[in-house]
Amino acid sequence: MSENAKKVGAILDKYSHAGRDALIPILQEIQEALGFLSKDAIAQTGKRLGLPASKIYGVATFYNQFRFQPKGRHHITICRGTACHVKGSDKVLDSACSTLKLQPGQTSRDRMFSLETVACMGACGLAPVITINEEFNAKVNPRKIVRLAQDCKEHSTEEKK
Ligand code: FES
Repeated sequence: MSENAKKVGAILDKYSHAGRDALIPILQEIQEALGFLSKDAIAQTGKRLGLPASKIYGVATFYNQFRFQPKGRHHITICRGTACHVKGSDKVLDSACSTLKLQPGQTSRDRMFSLETVACMGACGLAPVITINEEFNAKVNPRKIVRLAQDCKEHSTEEKK
């Protein structure tokens, strides 16, 4: 049994007396443990709860808190809350999507970048705000996204040297 399967098994054991109503907290814990919901984890959960994988995907995709791909080395989160929206977060998101060639929820093939959107990050005074690996970047504009992505790439190249 793989390490991940063991982790998922331990989470499912905790909920052994719970029914299908526990699906969301189970998926949240699995995502916390693995960083994303893998195909295997979904299959394992389905088997235990007696639910088809398609049903679990259906539920999980409804909530945009779940990821189905592992995070990239540089995980970029863009706030879509009201204060950030008013200050142009949609343009920041467009710029991130075209610069990284990703949609929210995706990870680049080389695992360099992953992109996600969230509701208010609780830092509205810094709007529009993004985080890169949990580090806050304030008053971001579309051009700044291009530069930050470039910095991440350069930083990764330097690390490899
Ligand atoms: S709306 Fe973006 S931090 Fe609050």
